Amino acid sequence: MINNFKEYQKKKKLFIEYNKSYYDLNSPDIDDATFDQFKKDLIEFENTHNIKDKITNIVGFTPSEKFSKIKHQEKMLSLDNAFNEEDILDFYKKINNYLNNNNEFREELYAEPKIDGISASLSYIDGKLARGLSRGDGEFGEDITENLETVDEIPKKLKKKINGELIVRGEVYIQKSDFKKISAKFANPRNAASGSLRQKDSINTAKIPLKFFAYGTIFKCHHYSSSQSDFLKFLKELGFKVNLLGKIVKNEKEIFNNYKQLEEQRSKLDYDIDGIVYKINNFQLQKRLGNLSHAPRWAIAHKFSAEKGISKIKNIEIQVGRTGALTPVAKIEPINIGGVLVSNATLHNEDEIIRKDIRINDTVVVQRAGDVIPQVVEVDLTKRKSDSKKFIFPKKCPCGFDTIKDYNETTKKFDAVRRCPDRGFECNLMTKEKIKHYVSKNAMNIEGLGKKVVENFWELNLVKLPTDIYKLNFNKISQLDGWGKLSAKNLENSINETKKISLDRFIFALGIRHIGQENAKILAKYFKSINNFKKLAESRDQIFNSLLDLDGMGETQISSLKNFFSNKINKKIFLELTKYLNIENVLENSKGKFFNQTFMFTGAMEKMSRSEAKQIIENEGGKVLGSPSKKLNFLVSGDSKPTQKKLNKAKELGVKILSEKEWYQLINF
Ligand code: IVH
Repeated sequence: MINNFKEYQKKKKLFIEYNKSYYDLNSPDIDDATFDQFKKDLIEFENTHNIKDKITNIVGFTPSEKFSKIKHQEKMLSLDNAFNEEDILDFYKKINNYLNNNNEFREELYAEPKIDGISASLSYIDGKLARGLSRGDGEFGEDITENLETVDEIPKKLKKKINGELIVRGEVYIQKSDFKKISAKFANPRNAASGSLRQKDSINTAKIPLKFFAYGTIFKCHHYSSSQSDFLKFLKELGFKVNLLGKIVKNEKEIFNNYKQLEEQRSKLDYDIDGIVYKINNFQLQKRLGNLSHAPRWAIAHKFSAEKGISKIKNIEIQVGRTGALTPVAKIEPINIGGVLVSNATLHNEDEIIRKDIRINDTVVVQRAGDVIPQVVEVDLTKRKSDSKKFIFPKKCPCGFDTIKDYNETTKKFDAVRRCPDRGFECNLMTKEKIKHYVSKNAMNIEGLGKKVVENFWELNLVKLPTDIYKLNFNKISQLDGWGKLSAKNLENSINETKKISLDRFIFALGIRHIGQENAKILAKYFKSINNFKKLAESRDQIFNSLLDLDGMGETQISSLKNFFSNKINKKIFLELTKYLNIENVLENSKGKFFNQTFMFTGAMEKMSRSEAKQIIENEGGKVLGSPSKKLNFLVSGDSKPTQKKLNKAKELGVKILSEKEWYQLINF
């Protein structure tokens, strides 16, 4: 039992030391029982007091600078999530559109459990395990070969002779029964697997019984099989464990029956699964569908329904997001939902609070689905007491500005979300979130400068703008609580390392509303260099209007860019950032067979969609134009309803016209 804050801090410090020696070194300097008691006392104190940096967040944590970073040959992507049957049908529709199939179930899917563990990518050279990488930021993984070698189910030598390189991807996990034995040290099995895999010393990894399910490969290695189901058979023959609950599903009925069956089986399995992954079974089609920047087009995860718990709302606070959205968050009495301690749950927006009549002191149902933010689903009105308090949603942002609700021209309705108007970096709270976004994984990816550190530096007035990151005094940091020379040096290194950055990451990092990763890529490809991109800061209409021709950019995005660059503070910070950074030019794909060639389409084709045709051209270094001009090299005329006007114009300009058949020949389709 801990009696006061001072005692708490003292014990926490000791705990951190113990924790380190327990996980980093081979010989723990306290016995298990004492360690567990320590932890229990700390958690109890944290749950009954308002503590920000909880110990549960550091358990098993070891800094990752110790692993060298290696680029994945093909990105390790995440999966888009489906939460209901409609989302799955939508996924199918999109696939059918892309492949130009009729809207019916045509392509078979391979459905397999989504294992709740940590993904790893293994490289076998001439049949021997040569290297194992963690996912990292998807582009670069950490070299954790030694640790992966301790996992029995990862073959060190394949059972069959395979010449050259084979990449096998899969999930490292811990069995529920094994987790029970070590549950005092980790919040859930997934954390246990992750903490264990990233140990400095592989001896410590070997102490925890990790398992491995192989589930896939990269496009480059597709030639070993023709489908996902065959590839899994092949992996089995090579000595891998593959999950036996996977199966081919061919239509709606089979998909949803299989989902129900697996969801029922879920609790009986000795490993955690949090949904089903559907993959287009045919490898050729997977390749045709290809990937978006964050997830493949050929796969989706159907999450199992969320786990629920009952708690009480202690208070409601307003959080301000990066784009100014005011989100009400319920501070609830901490409850464990499916192995995760939940003490905050979102209430979404003002309208939701009114609709569900949610009040402070109410007893509520809270649900948590995988990595999605926990949410308050409903109020248990039978438990409402006289001390329940209505929450008056503030009309002002906590920063003091009046808030606004956007009017949506399409729906002719006002947004449910109240926003602090974006005035550059004037709203403190938004700025803090913008900084968190700037340093995040998919943006600048500054390791060691996570959300918590940003919060901490913010409170200490060290980082108040993104540009402050480049003015940090590392000597001063090394003397801060919880920091030392080594950690300060590591932070300095990671900031310096990320100064060399691709244009699309930088654009995304700016956090401009409506400019996500995909749009940042489109813009980077178009502008090619930071100097060209800087022209937006001149705020000339002509430049903004030229963006309308870009596929994927619409009025919303363009007006958001205009807004951003019409603000003086934004402009100043943007220009200052470019001075600290070495932003790489976008290299043209000069190897592709359509390098320097431009295409346009008219009419529909039978065998492929416009989107696929466009992707093929861009993969080969070519460009697709929106209207005929002197710059145009080819006009592809689809057999179905080509526009005569476009054909005539092309003829006039001397553009080469390709029939649908000639187009297929050109791309060997
Ligand atoms: S396939 C392109 N199959 O889910 C992505 N992933 O949210 C291909 N996962 O990082 C992944 N079980 O760690 C695939 N049977 C399975 C999986 C699986 C678990 C994880 C994987 C990935 C995450 C994506």
